[in-house]
Amino acid sequence: MTVFEDQLSELNASFEDAYPQEVLRWAAESFGDRLAVVTSFQPTGIVTMHMLSEIAPKTTVLTLDTGLLFPETYALMDELEQRLNLRLIRVRPNQTVEQQSRTHGANLWEHDPDKCCNMRKTIPLGRVLGGYDAWITGLRRDQSNGRRATPMVSWDSKNGKVKLSPLATWNEEMIWAYIHAHELPYNPLHDQNYSSIGCYPCTQPVAPDSPDKRAGRWSGHVKTECGIHVATENSGTHVTTENSDIHMTTENKGDTIVAERQQGFTLWLTGLSGAGKTTISVALEQELRAREVYIERLDGDTVREGLTRDLGFSKEDRDKNIERVTYVAKLLSRNGVGVVAAFISPYREARQKAREQINNFIEVYVDASLEVCAGRDVKGLYAKAFAGELKGFTGVDDPYEAPESPELVIHSGQETLEESVGRILQYLEQRALIPAAVTA
Ligand code: ADX
Repeated sequence: MTVFEDQLSELNASFEDAYPQEVLRWAAESFGDRLAVVTSFQPTGIVTMHMLSEIAPKTTVLTLDTGLLFPETYALMDELEQRLNLRLIRVRPNQTVEQQSRTHGANLWEHDPDKCCNMRKTIPLGRVLGGYDAWITGLRRDQSNGRRATPMVSWDSKNGKVKLSPLATWNEEMIWAYIHAHELPYNPLHDQNYSSIGCYPCTQPVAPDSPDKRAGRWSGHVKTECGIHVATENSGTHVTTENSDIHMTTENKGDTIVAERQQGFTLWLTGLSGAGKTTISVALEQELRAREVYIERLDGDTVREGLTRDLGFSKEDRDKNIERVTYVAKLLSRNGVGVVAAFISPYREARQKAREQINNFIEVYVDASLEVCAGRDVKGLYAKAFAGELKGFTGVDDPYEAPESPELVIHSGQETLEESVGRILQYLEQRALIPAAVTA
């Protein structure tokens, strides 16, 4: 933590007349990769993302994909993701809309919109923010009466984070002027009298002259906010608690407890033989177990003694090896298990197929040069390959196609094992796939 509550009034005073870019620059410098923008791709969020793409382009963008957004919103996300080269993470609730209908009744938003927002937005946001120290919102003072006093920087006690609203002082006109000046895409629903746009069942168009820009949200209910910008943890009679130790969210509704399970994922470690894949994955397995994450480790050396013992190292056999492992990883990760897979997997196409089939696929390129790997030569195989006694050895007389855009690159020759493992864990935390480490 770099900002404390007693510094807030001073910071707010200095930011009151500042350009939003100055606030964003300060945030990026203060929090680095522990900073995230949370946006629903409305005009203020678009301006924020564009400014950040010039100031700190690697800043994570989190969006709450409730599964109930307008098709126009989904299309806009894809377009801006490409255009601004966003590091976008779509945060999804643990239950699909269909599962929610089965456990809480159909169209929950009609009879209990608070509960629906809580399950589909507030809880997932709390979960994902565990990996960050500060979040940027698109709150503006002109949006509604309830937002008139929005500070530029505040302490969000519900999530235990610094909360920033760098565009708090801007008005509607300034936002649109910026969007048009930079020819940024925006949600076409704004041209059809939709002012504030959220989930489709709870968003209506508003009269063009309405002073309350959020009037079309939850119309017919007294509700005006989804809950993510409400300071207290308990809304109405519902109490939610997030137990970060066991990474399960329990929701207490009367006498029924609904436990939400860990999400599955596959960390796919690829690289030359001897690059350090097994060493890293063993250390990762230990760390993840310590955090009570369900984990399964799949490794070329052991899998080839069982599941794929009939296979050799021709291209065809390597493809079959990866195909079978992909199948196992797919089953495990779709059932809430974290998989750590360590395979040379030299062919890009085979890894791409794995990516397409596996839920939360994370490609980790363990990058060590042939010289480094051959120098280590733990199994003595490089010596044999160079001597011509072992044919078709990856990197010597067989190809290795390095990943073009892996989620992570580990330079095992230049960083310590602790650093490599730490970076992978941090990545998983930031994707909300594992609980944040408990810090003293
Ligand atoms: S993959 O290419 O099909 O992904 P995998 O990761 O399962 O390979 O197995 C690699 C391990 O098999 C290496 O670490 C090495 O110990 C051993 N091995 C034996 N022959 C070869 C070879 N020709 N090329 C690469 N690794 C080999």
